[in-house]
Amino acid sequence: MSQKKQQEQRIDVEAAARILRDNDRGGYSVPTHGLYPFQWSWDSAITALGWMKIDEQRAWQEAETMFRGQWANGMVPHILFHKDAESYFPGPDIWGSNTAIPSSAISQPPVWATAIRIMYETCQNRALAEEKLGTLLPKLIAYHDWWYRERDPEDTGLVCSYHPWESGMDNSPAWDDPLDAVPEVDWTYQRRDLGHVDADQRPHKPQYDRYLYLVDFYKRHGFDSQYIYEHCPYKVIDVSIVSILQRASSDLLELCRHADYKSGVDELENELARTGTAINRLWSGKRHCFLNHDLMSGQPLDEVTTATVLPLFGGLADTDQAAGMCNLIGEWLAATKVGLSSTHPSSARYESQRYWRGPVWLHINWMIARGADDYGDPQLAERLRSSARDCVMTSGFWEYFDADTGDGCGGDNFTWTAAVALYWLAS
Ligand code: GLC
Repeated sequence: MSQKKQQEQRIDVEAAARILRDNDRGGYSVPTHGLYPFQWSWDSAITALGWMKIDEQRAWQEAETMFRGQWANGMVPHILFHKDAESYFPGPDIWGSNTAIPSSAISQPPVWATAIRIMYETCQNRALAEEKLGTLLPKLIAYHDWWYRERDPEDTGLVCSYHPWESGMDNSPAWDDPLDAVPEVDWTYQRRDLGHVDADQRPHKPQYDRYLYLVDFYKRHGFDSQYIYEHCPYKVIDVSIVSILQRASSDLLELCRHADYKSGVDELENELARTGTAINRLWSGKRHCFLNHDLMSGQPLDEVTTATVLPLFGGLADTDQAAGMCNLIGEWLAATKVGLSSTHPSSARYESQRYWRGPVWLHINWMIARGADDYGDPQLAERLRSSARDCVMTSGFWEYFDADTGDGCGGDNFTWTAAVALYWLAS
């Protein structure tokens, strides 16, 4: 299909809405049938934005269901296992969290407050939004407080992460070296993902062995946050978590102002200021972006991935840094056929089809476009949007897209892809 023809065609909003409805399990959405049969935190936040376009009540319910699984210490787990499912591994028995709603024991990029601010500001039903915000605000405050308290106990201004899955960018090449230092599990297990998706689109076994070592490590140490902070063999500063948290905290502050909610507000302001200064330690003048950092080796992780330009979304860059990142993104977009690839194609570890080592993920492209817009580069934002649109127009609503061909990869009829199409691409 010619480029012009694709532009003339509209996103099939009916098909996108149908995916949300088909993946609705009653109050929460699964990312896709089979491969991911539970509720994932950042998927769910993005999905709520899609629901906003078709059913506001249902959008708020997505958030309420997620926060029902919040731990007593404030953490929102990355997965809530609402029902048993044979099709996924590792399940609740391996995580061993022992919570009322069985869950994983790590979190995911905290995009919730940002999603809720958008929902609150774009709603048609104001009374409903006021009511829901009232119940969600204290939970959001507790969640953000958990990040700063448990993941930055020394007040460095940069929260840390204990698992590649926590980044949501599971097998990003940025995590290769820190993950290599983690022991492998010595028990056998049966992966379920390979029954759904081609092995060349998923992580390799040695990585999986280490992912599981970490899962087991938290359980063996009773989820003791101080012990884990001191002894976890994997501890990184993930620029994507730091940036998403920063934007979400500032959105949360704004929501508190609307609701005249005071508790926890001073602390949030302090944390925002601390991170605003600390982020500069991660800037790379050579790469023109902010590099992830391995806290075990003390070394920067020298891979240019979509995480490293997310400070645009977090409002964390100064004018020169933002200009450097926007130039980098412009050149990076031009280097592949569609979208902004999750890893820069010049990397020796780039693989156009393998999960987070190259493919295009639409919700990340949305975040970066939003950041480019905020920093006064609407042309770049529009290029990102139109290129993301090409993915869906060429292939449909896949989990992720081969950056070099535009082919859909991973799971089909994918919820957050449909949600991003409804919220961003169809507008
Ligand atoms: C994969 C992705 C992660 C996502 C989850 C559910 O694990 O890497 O980001 O949240 O699938 O879609």
